[in-house]
Amino acid sequence: MPKRLAVLASGTGTLLEAMIVAGVPIELVVVDRNCRAYSVAVKAGIPAVKHLRTFGRSFDRWVYTDSMVSILQGHKIELVAMAGFMTVFGPTMFETQAYAGKVLNTHPSLLPAFPGDHAVRDALAYGVKVSGFTIHWATAELDSGPIVVQEPVYVEEGDTVETLHERIKAQERIAYSELLHELVSE
Ligand code: GRF
Repeated sequence: MPKRLAVLASGTGTLLEAMIVAGVPIELVVVDRNCRAYSVAVKAGIPAVKHLRTFGRSFDRWVYTDSMVSILQGHKIELVAMAGFMTVFGPTMFETQAYAGKVLNTHPSLLPAFPGDHAVRDALAYGVKVSGFTIHWATAELDSGPIVVQEPVYVEEGDTVETLHERIKAQERIAYSELLHELVSE
């Protein structure tokens, strides 16, 4: 039996879309805001949950994390793949026995270079000639944790944040789908 996989997303959901097209078995999609990724899941007939967060001082990361764990456990999820999920979890996500070492993240830079929300912009601003993406096991420390897959993407003359990020995402879509296929059937 394949492991029960959940994908967490916050944005356009093109990584999620690629996983669906590649036939990755996804049991649940959870989004933290109203976003295209939710419609992608619904259209594909995948159970989708809006676990909406607040922004600003009212946001309680710990309460949000605990309720996310409950949602995942309620769907008997065994493996979690963050794909453009923008909320940082509290440590309980990575310490709860159910999900310790079972949460993946993908990040659009060659970690440990350029962690954070603006990786592509920061890498371009620094003037790097090579960037890329990193798929890693997530830990309580942002954009850190054991690296599983990492691939380079060359910066081209005249690249903008959008053009470079799109080339990075094109590779992420393929690599993340392939990895998840392997991990769900391990
Ligand atoms: C990816 O580049 C991922 O590394 C980053 O967000 C992007 C997700 O893209 N964290 P999309 O929303 O799936 O199009």
